Parts: sequence; structure tokens; C-alpha cells
Amino acid sequence: MTSILVLNGPNLNLLGTRQPDVYGATTLADIEASCSRWAKDAGCAVSFMQSNHEGALVDAIHAARGVHDGIVLNAGAYTHTSIALMDAIASVELPTIELHLSNVHAREEFRHTSYIAKVCVGIICGFGAHGYKLAIEALVSHLKD
Ligand code: DQA
Repeated sequence: MTSILVLNGPNLNLLGTRQPDVYGATTLADIEASCSRWAKDAGCAVSFMQSNHEGALVDAIHAARGVHDGIVLNAGAYTHTSIALMDAIASVELPTIELHLSNVHAREEFRHTSYIAKVCVGIICGFGAHGYKLAIEALVSHLKD
């Protein structure tokens, strides 16, 4: 069965209380539970992880090789800064979808830059927690092609 890693970066553990006007009221635990349902509906298995540490995210991407078929990555602020995450994704050669709850392009200029976009299959942003469902479906469909 297709297996997907849903990986979340810094400050996403605070979802629910963190700037709810920007990120919504849904907690990361709620999103994890929803991802399990959405993955089941899409016919794949899902693992879910969050870390505030760039190196731990790099380690998780490395560990995904040979275990998962693709990655949904909300790298949080590291999206806009991390060459290390970009290199990790390029190194493992697993199809990866960049995800954001908010529409980063409607926000501050520094959020318009993504280092990881260069090595991702595509980007989903601006749909809140529902974006995780869209990303899982998009990845499963991409893996079938
Ligand atoms: C985010 C957008 C990033 O710019 C921000 O740093 C985050 C969350 C999002 O999901 O909208 O931490 O990735």
C-alpha cells in the first residue's frame, strides 16, 4: 500500500491557539486525526510528525527513503530559509508536496520565497487544514501516474 509521510515544521504544534485568524482554530492533533481518515479514503497509509528543529526535519526526510512513497511537507518558516531542507528532499528523491495553511503569497514579502518549491512536485496553500486533504489526494494521484 502507498505510504505517505506528513511532516510539519516549527510552531505548527501550537495550531489552535497560534494566530487563529491566520491559521484557523483546528489543532495539529485534529489535523492528524483527519489525515488518517483522508488517507484511508485515498487508499494509502499515513505517518504524521512535527518538529520545531530543522535537523530533525532533515533526519525525518532521510528516514522516509525506503519507508514512504512520498512526503507532504508543511515546513513552516523553514520553507523560506532552509537550503538544508531543499537538499534533503532533492537527496532522497521522494515526491514531495509543499503545503501551507495560509496563502503565503497574500502575506509578507519574505513568505513569497520558498527554497523547497524548487524540489517539490507542487504547492498547496491557502485552504487551511483542508489543504492536508488536497495534498494527500494530489500525492496519491501523482504516485499513480
Ligand atoms: C505556514 C506559513 C509559513 O510562512 C509560516 O512561517 C508558518 C506556517 C502555513 O502553514 O501557512 O509557520 O507554513
